[in-house]
Amino acid sequence: MGKVMIAPSVLGCDQGNLAEEALALQIAGADMIHLDVMDGVFVPVLTVGAGTAASIIRRVDIPVDAHLMVQKPSHLINAFADAGCSYITVHAEVTSHLDRLLQQIRTAGSRAGVAVNPSTPVDFLRWVAPAVDLVLIMAVNPGYGGQKHLDYIHDKIPEVRHILDCNGGGEALISVDGGVTDANAEKLISRGADILVSGSFITGSRDPAAAMERLR
Ligand code: DX5
Ligand code: ZN
Repeated sequence: MGKVMIAPSVLGCDQGNLAEEALALQIAGADMIHLDVMDGVFVPVLTVGAGTAASIIRRVDIPVDAHLMVQKPSHLINAFADAGCSYITVHAEVTSHLDRLLQQIRTAGSRAGVAVNPSTPVDFLRWVAPAVDLVLIMAVNPGYGGQKHLDYIHDKIPEVRHILDCNGGGEALISVDGGVTDANAEKLISRGADILVSGSFITGSRDPAAAMERLR
């Protein structure tokens, strides 16, 4: 178990200045940048496209993971991979062809992630464990920052770890996303989270560097 990585979500940042905001977070100690991509259909909010991802990636030296909260990720994967996203994460709930989507991400040159909403069971991971590089466990219902962390998803973390380890996905990382703060970070890490995605706790803080240290 290596050091836990902190991936600030830039959803709460100035959407017209994301490259600079991401650089400031890198300087403040971020390990990765979490970019929430929303299409206004899968979730009722619209955010940014691959062009914005590219401008952020040109500005920072740390990996950018694109969290695609979109209904038709197959339309967007290649553009986000071409933009240079290190990870591209699709939602299990939007497809009957998850293995094909994960292959498309890897073929396009990015690492493949799958996200699961709070109510989504994780046993399907048994069949795609060799095809994933990251599992994003949602601790809120996606679409918004600043929501209440749903503690009941904590049991998913060791369950996902077990399924991955037993089915050829031992290298995959587990990331938790939603309402992550210093009130729950220790519990998430002890349950096996490798990456903590945190938005408002970091970007709403006067001192993002201190906020990230508190999470660690
Ligand atoms: C929600 C996004 C999260 C969100 C996290 O749909 O996927 O990444 O930005 O923000 P907080 O930490 O404020 O819940
Ligand atoms: Zn996210």
